[in-house]
Amino acid sequence: MKHKNIFIACDTSNLSQIKKIISQTKTNKIQVIPKFGLQFFYSKHGRKFLESFKKDFFLDLKINDIPQTALSAIDSIKDLKKCRYITVHVNGGLEMLKAIKKKTKTINKNIKILGVTILTSLNNKSLKEMGHTKSVGQLVLKQATLIKKSGCDGIVCSAQEAKLVRSKFKNLFIVTPGIRLPGDNVNDQSRVMTPNDAFNNKVSGIVMGRSLIRGNIKNNIQRLIDHLNQ
Ligand code: C5P
Repeated sequence: MKHKNIFIACDTSNLSQIKKIISQTKTNKIQVIPKFGLQFFYSKHGRKFLESFKKDFFLDLKINDIPQTALSAIDSIKDLKKCRYITVHVNGGLEMLKAIKKKTKTINKNIKILGVTILTSLNNKSLKEMGHTKSVGQLVLKQATLIKKSGCDGIVCSAQEAKLVRSKFKNLFIVTPGIRLPGDNVNDQSRVMTPNDAFNNKVSGIVMGRSLIRGNIKNNIQRLIDHLNQ
């Protein structure tokens, strides 16, 4: 079970809460990697904390801008030596993805660039509202093709599309948020799955936030381990 990547969404701007999440999710039974997103990175202490963070982490910045601005953003975080994953929106287009990948190679070869496709909070109805005529599944596959073309390393989609994506792209690193332990509140997420269902769909890693960080964190981690052992 150790080989399964569990990315813990450390979604808080409170530094002591971040430290608590990191210490209470520590276990030698599963591979846990902290994920820091917009809330913590933009907070007063966030960036400073990450500069001296000693363990590998996932930086969920969801970059989406013109190529020059996007690659400059990558250059601006080159001091974050333990950063191993960065997210960018595929909506930024092929040239932006290529520019980011090229820049990242020059600053740190250990960073995987993951393209965020359709957010897991969205569904077919939301896509229609935005003017899209394709379904979630069709758009995710189309965007997976762009990710491959750009040379980026992985994709962020929901576990519901993971099987389809894996059938076409054997070597893509697939990360899926929208994960809930059975019976947990889905909150604002729309396309959700349990950890076991996601891994059965051949994902490379799952992102879990509220199912683990709300309430008693240690109990939640044990629930996750028990669930994965089923
Ligand atoms: O609390 P929950 O498990 O829903 O958190 C999901 C995490 O994954 C959040 O940090 C969110 O920003 C992130 N994420 C997502 N959907 C994506 C990409 C990232 O929910 N498509």
